[in-house]
Amino acid sequence: MSKVKSLTSKDLLGLKDLSAEDLRLVFQTAESLKEVFHRPIKRVPALNGKTIFNLFYEPSTRTKSSFEMAAKMLSATTGSITTKTSSMTKGETLIDTAKNIEVMGIDAIVIRHSMAGAPQLIAKNLKASVINAGDGFNEHPTQGLLDIFTMQEKKKTVKGKTILIVGDIAHSRVARSNIWGLKKLGARVIVCGPPTLIPVGIEEMGAEVSCHLDKVIGEADFINVLRIQMERQGKGLFPSREEYTKLYGIDAARMKKAKKDVVIMHPGPINRGLELSTEVADGPYNVILDQVKNGVAIRMAVLFLLLGGKNGN
Ligand code: CP
Repeated sequence: MSKVKSLTSKDLLGLKDLSAEDLRLVFQTAESLKEVFHRPIKRVPALNGKTIFNLFYEPSTRTKSSFEMAAKMLSATTGSITTKTSSMTKGETLIDTAKNIEVMGIDAIVIRHSMAGAPQLIAKNLKASVINAGDGFNEHPTQGLLDIFTMQEKKKTVKGKTILIVGDIAHSRVARSNIWGLKKLGARVIVCGPPTLIPVGIEEMGAEVSCHLDKVIGEADFINVLRIQMERQGKGLFPSREEYTKLYGIDAARMKKAKKDVVIMHPGPINRGLELSTEVADGPYNVILDQVKNGVAIRMAVLFLLLGGKNGN
């Protein structure tokens, strides 16, 4: 990187707020930083002296650990608390928690919360940068970024490509961040799932809607399969797991209707045998572990761009 650039906002709260230019800047930065993975010592001094704190009020394997990896690879100091270890269990408010962490000399807080709008709330109350690591059903911007980055890596561009997002759209912050980002970059997005799992008004974001997977699967260049979020939904949104799998599960038989070079994606964690068969999840079309690896590069780029990283590598 010859020139140090930054994002226009102090926070990353959602892809709804980013311009196409911002998105491209994140991708270019991630591409440059990916080179660090191949070094004998996987660390650059770009964020030396900066401190990044993970505040996770929901479980996470990929997002939390990749933010930690990303911060460490940029030489930042890290800290973290989770729901069980936080004084919110004793009645402390989220804003009080965030302000107490900030005065310890924190430059950025990465937050995951079940309440949509929680990152926005603390961003308004802090000078530190706030990064949304998933808020309720609203957005998961770094997942959207890593998904699009992976798509571009596989087919050069998303412009003019058709991305089919299948599953529980209603409860999916991943779907929303994908749609905001993909539409800004000129992609066609189709969302597909049972009518009860398609939220009202999703077309206003620029997505097309289908409830018939077998009719649209052949149009897709990428299929982003979403997890059925049992923990977020009341009972009765689809008749049974078996019927869901029959109508919307991606398995080898259904893949015969897809394009030969279709790319299969999943944000994880996968419910194997429900939304995605093991044969397809581990098969030649999938890029699921590439998504996870790219997640570290994308999170390095976001931290670098928000915290004014120095190109001293
Ligand atoms: N994709 C994703 O957000 O995974 P985690 O819940 O494991 O962070």
